[in-house]
Amino acid sequence: MVEQTWGSDRRLTAISRANLSVPARQAMVDKQVLPGRTVLDYGCGRGGDVRGLKLLDCQAAGWDPFYQPDTRLEPADVVLLTYVLNVIEDPIERRKTLKEAWTLASRVLVASARLTWEKSKVRGEEFGDGLLTSRQTFQHLFGTAELRSYVEEVTGVRTISAAPGIVYAFKDESARLGYVAQRIIPDARWLASEDTASAIAAVVDHVEHRGRLPRMEEVPQPMAELLRHLGPNEIRRLVRDSADPAKVDQGSKRATLNTLLFLAVELFNGRGPFSGLPLSIQLDVRAFFSSYREACQRSDRLLLKLRDDPYVRGAMNASAVGKLTPTALYVHRRALDRMPTVLRLYEHCASIAAGRPQSWTLAKLRHQGRAVSWLDYPDFDSDPHPRIRSSYQVDLKTLEASYTSYADSKNRPLLHRKHEFIAPDDPDTARYERLTAAEVRAGLYEHPHLIGTEKGWEAELNRCGRTLRGHRLVRARDA
Ligand SMILES: C[S@@+](CC[C@H](N)C(=O)[O-])C[C@H]1O[C@@H](n2cnc3c(N)ncnc32)[C@H](O)[C@@H]1O
Repeated sequence: MVEQTWGSDRRLTAISRANLSVPARQAMVDKQVLPGRTVLDYGCGRGGDVRGLKLLDCQAAGWDPFYQPDTRLEPADVVLLTYVLNVIEDPIERRKTLKEAWTLASRVLVASARLTWEKSKVRGEEFGDGLLTSRQTFQHLFGTAELRSYVEEVTGVRTISAAPGIVYAFKDESARLGYVAQRIIPDARWLASEDTASAIAAVVDHVEHRGRLPRMEEVPQPMAELLRHLGPNEIRRLVRDSADPAKVDQGSKRATLNTLLFLAVELFNGRGPFSGLPLSIQLDVRAFFSSYREACQRSDRLLLKLRDDPYVRGAMNASAVGKLTPTALYVHRRALDRMPTVLRLYEHCASIAAGRPQSWTLAKLRHQGRAVSWLDYPDFDSDPHPRIRSSYQVDLKTLEASYTSYADSKNRPLLHRKHEFIAPDDPDTARYERLTAAEVRAGLYEHPHLIGTEKGWEAELNRCGRTLRGHRLVRARDA
C-alpha cells in the first residue's frame, strides 16, 4: 500500500463487499459485462467486485491507487468507475480520473456515483463542493442530471442512464445504439430447433412476431446451420405457405411501432446516420417504411406529440391498460408495452435520461407537465392491498430526479382495485376483480378519502366488520 497525499482519507470509503455492487450487477443484467469481455474496475477499493466477476467467469482486473496500485493499467472492453468520483475532493483530479477511466475503456465506461437523495445519510462540514465527514472522508453527492451531463462533458459522447446514479458512455455509436435497441425492442424470439422442420417452424414463428423474414445474420448460429442447405427462395416459399397472414400483419404493426419508438427515443437523445443503426432495425426500416427519411419524419411527429397535452391525455384515455386518475396514468410493469406508443415513448425518454430504478412495480405518467415515477410495491402479487416502499421520479423538463423512501413510514399509502393496473388478459385479473367487487359490496369504498393509507384502510375494514384472507374478503368474526 502506498502513502497518498490526498486532502481526505479516501481509502476509508472503500467497503468490503460480499456481493456485487449495484453498478456491476446492472452492467451484467444489461449484457455489457459478459464472460469473454475484459473488465477493469478502476478505483476497485478492496476488490470485492473483481472477485465476484471472476467467479462469474469474467476476465476482470482491478486497480486502486491505495489498495491495488501495482496492477498494470491496460485498456479493457468495460471499465467500471464505481463510487469513485464522489469521494475525490479535488475537482481537477476528479475530472482527470474520469478522463483516465474513459481512455482505458474500449467499449463502454460504467460510471456511478452516490446521489443527492442520500444527503440525510451523510453528515459533515462543508468542504469545497461537498462535505467532509468526521472520519475525514469526502462526499460530493451528484444529482442524476448532473452526473449524466458531467460524464457527457468529460467524455464528449452521448450517455445513457442505466439506473439512478449509473451512467453508460459508449466508445462507439453502434454499441450505444445496440444498447438502446435492446432496452426498447425485446430480444427476437426463437423457438428451439433440433432439425430442419423445427428450424423452419421457428422462422415461421419469428415472422409472425416480427412481421418480416429474418436475414441469416439475425438467425442464431445452430439454427442457421440447420437451414443452410435451403436456398433463400425455398425458405421464403415455406414461410409463405405456413405463416398465418393475420399474425404476420399484427407482427409488422408491432415492429413498425417499435421502430418508430426507437427512432423517437433516439431523436430525444440525438439521432445519428442510418448506417449506425443495429442491423435488425435497419432491416425493420427497410421492411416497414418507404425510406429512412419517412421513418424519421414519422418518429419526429411522434416525439412532437409528447408535448401535446390533449393528445397525451387522449392516449391515456384510450389506453387499453392502466388506471387513470385526475393527475396521472398508473400502469404495472407487466403491461407497460401495451400502452399506446406515445406513452411508451414518454416512459422510455424518462428512463434514458434518469435510469429506471432496480426495483419497481408501477410506472406513473403525469398528464399535466411531464414527469414519470417508478413506484415500488414489493408485495404487489401476494398482498391484496400492496404498500408502497419507494418512489423515484424524474421531471422530463428539468431532467432532475428525486427519490422518496417509505421504509420508515408508519402509515404507508396502499393500493386498491389492483386489476386496474394490469392488462385485462393478465392471469391475475379475474381474482383481483372478484376481491374488488366483494369490497364494494361490503361498503369499503364508501369513503374513498379515508382508505388511501394503511391506518385509514384498517379503520374502514373494522367499521365494516371485514378482514382479508389472501385475496378473499371475509367477515371479521369468521377470521
Ligand atoms: C467508495 S470507494 C469504492 C471502491 C469500489 N469501487 C467499490 O465500489 O467497492 C472509492 C475508491 O476510490 C479510490 N480512489 C480515490 N482516488 C482515486 C483516483 N484518483 N483514481 C482512482 N481511484 C481512486 C479509493 O482508493 C477508494 O478505494
